[in-house]
Amino acid sequence: MSQKLVVVTGATGLQGGAVIRALVANGAYRTRAITRQLTSPAAKQLVEQGVDVVQATLDDKDSLIKAFEGAYAVYGCTPFGDATEEQQGKNIVDACKVNQVPLLLWSALPDAAKTSGGKYTNITHYDRKARVTEYINDNHQPAVTIYLSNFSDNLLQYYWIRRSEDGSYTVAIPLSPDVSVAYTWVDGDLGEAILAIIKNWEIPEIRAELQGNQPLHVCSYRITASQMADSISKITGKPTHLEASRSTGSGELDEMLQYQDDGLLYPDAEIPPPILTKLGVAFHTFEDFARAVVTPSVD
Ligand SMILES: NC(=O)c1ccc[n+]([C@@H]2O[C@H](COP(=O)([O-])OP(=O)(O)OC[C@H]3O[C@@H](n4cnc5c(N)ncnc54)[C@H](OP(=O)(O)O)[C@@H]3O)[C@@H](O)[C@H]2O)c1
Repeated sequence: MSQKLVVVTGATGLQGGAVIRALVANGAYRTRAITRQLTSPAAKQLVEQGVDVVQATLDDKDSLIKAFEGAYAVYGCTPFGDATEEQQGKNIVDACKVNQVPLLLWSALPDAAKTSGGKYTNITHYDRKARVTEYINDNHQPAVTIYLSNFSDNLLQYYWIRRSEDGSYTVAIPLSPDVSVAYTWVDGDLGEAILAIIKNWEIPEIRAELQGNQPLHVCSYRITASQMADSISKITGKPTHLEASRSTGSGELDEMLQYQDDGLLYPDAEIPPPILTKLGVAFHTFEDFARAVVTPSVD
């Protein structure tokens, strides 16, 4: 029997890249990656890994319809900050419908305006994704909508965790220090989570459980900034300073952090999600992430 095909959008990026790596390592599926630019170093690297890389753009539905031909599953994610994000997501859904794709894995976020009772109306990268989730439901596209949270992977890049020359660390997350927030370690956990869903989609009782548990919170752990600082101190034996909250410089991201500070992000979700741990996904802790990424040079 020929291998099922999984098509991944955002394949040269963080999320899509993690999904592709898990699929390639597993070896049971054919993988097709979508990029706008076949000649980019990231696209060339995927070709070297044996991935079928095709040119398409989320802004051109026809290019997606062609790219999704023969797909058993599609991992759909949209980039940050595009005003056309809602339409990009809808194009993914339409292209799945045209190709009768049996499973769309849609990387979404909640409707911040709705879940805050109208308090936060400018978190557009949440709300646009929520419109796409509604569109999936309205159009009856078989799907699992997943909710990721703040990416652990970005903490160093955003300087939310910093290392000083004396070996000490600073945790400068623009949130109240004792508010517990969910994080997704994309590189550590997303690929295995998506693979588990795809592998088990044909098992009726698991499919029913996955569909019944939507949105599925693919988050690795919850932690406060204070707990992060304690954990880093424990690992390194060095002092770790907590820096007071400050603006990110982006009105939208500041509002998003306020939303999280109010405890509105996934307040009732079990993290990590029990259905995925049952399927064998070994989600990591913040300590795992810190040992692998934040303090790798420390024994
Ligand atoms: N950072 C966080 O903490 C966080 C948390 C939750 C959710 N998110 C969401 O995650 C998403 C970003 O994911 P990421 O960090 O994995 O992205 P990323 O690393 O920035 O990569 C972006 C990807 O999107 C592709 N892309 C961009 N525009 C495209 C277009 N018009 N058509 C087709 N492909 C396009 C790029 O591919 P090419 O350049 O090769 O075409 C690239 O693979 C955002 O929607 C954000 O809201 C982020």
